[in-house]
Amino acid sequence: MFENLKAQPADKILALMQKFREDPRGSKVDLGVGVYKNAEGVTPVMRAVKAAEQKIWETQASKSYVGLAGDPAYADGMINLILGEAVARDKIAAAATPGGTGAVRQAFELIRNANPAARVFVSNPTWPNHLSILKYLNIETVAYRYFDSETRGVDFDGMLEDLKTANMGDVVLLHGCCHNPTGANLNLTQWQAVVDLVVEKGLIPMVDIAYQGFGDGLEQDAQGVRLVASSVPECLIAASCSKNFGIYRERTGLLMAISQDAGARALNQGTLAFLNRQNYSFPPDHGARIVTTILNDDALRTDWAAELEDVRLAMLGLRQQLADELQKLTGSDRFGFIAQHRGMFSLLGTSFDLVEKMRADDGIYMVGDSRMNIAGLNADTVPILAQAIVKAGV
Ligand code: LMR
Repeated sequence: MFENLKAQPADKILALMQKFREDPRGSKVDLGVGVYKNAEGVTPVMRAVKAAEQKIWETQASKSYVGLAGDPAYADGMINLILGEAVARDKIAAAATPGGTGAVRQAFELIRNANPAARVFVSNPTWPNHLSILKYLNIETVAYRYFDSETRGVDFDGMLEDLKTANMGDVVLLHGCCHNPTGANLNLTQWQAVVDLVVEKGLIPMVDIAYQGFGDGLEQDAQGVRLVASSVPECLIAASCSKNFGIYRERTGLLMAISQDAGARALNQGTLAFLNRQNYSFPPDHGARIVTTILNDDALRTDWAAELEDVRLAMLGLRQQLADELQKLTGSDRFGFIAQHRGMFSLLGTSFDLVEKMRADDGIYMVGDSRMNIAGLNADTVPILAQAIVKAGV
């Protein structure tokens, strides 16, 4: 049997992680996988997470099963964090999932079950695993223009033009904030225009929000998803706690299905529970419990938000430092976009060959499409990266 298996292509982000580990050079710089690192190069456990874990350790009396959709208190906390008061709670079905990827995967399965003819429109580029899972599930994808390779901003006219070709019932996958891999984001006026188009054409938006709090702040980063959720009859939202709670390996995510009326909610809730049962039964609980503990404790929540804000500001500082350094070295503003982008990533917008050259010559590890993890930098490595970019002739 096993001889029939086909070797699968390696995920390019995870393959890069491995390559970096194997590189013996002490001067190497890891700008690959989307993991936050502080100035010491450490991905710390956040203070509030440690405190919540201690509280859980002291008070948790059982590790018995919770429920197929996870703890409703977790869903409530996350819904409040992401949507605020934008949508009536009785329209939202929600289930805990193993990480944001779990939510994405369950959402795609739900789409396939509900409408096998639906195509999923994805930004070009998008997170490679979106495409990989869609392909694995045999769901047809259509790329819409997103990144303007001249300005390194959003090609919004191109995006709208391409979305206009979608048919009723097709799904539009949107990044809630901090677009991965580009760092280029829609402004609120553009979100509104997308919402108008989606409503006019009867499309189903699916928002993947994995970096809330990493862009312009916890509330600001949720404006787009709130606008979508409060304006359209139906949508899906896949959320991750990996980055903003720093609990990557705990695999903590949430899938929401928002429907026109409370009546449809029961069917959606049952479907989400069913999908969990088919794939892994009960979703993991520890990360969700940490998040719930933090969100329901004023002091922990305040401390978590403050630490997250420090992380965000540190990334903004690194962006500015890199843009300034490149301005100094090149005498031009053509890298100013790095300071304008938001979130963990910026797409440099250069060729695979130059990315490879920077890796070979200077030990700079960015993803092959030239995505840089800004959070992988520190004040000392910014000048090294700037010099490598200029030296390679980007
Ligand atoms: C990334 O894009 O680097 C992260 O979302 C981590 C991952 O799983 O790819």
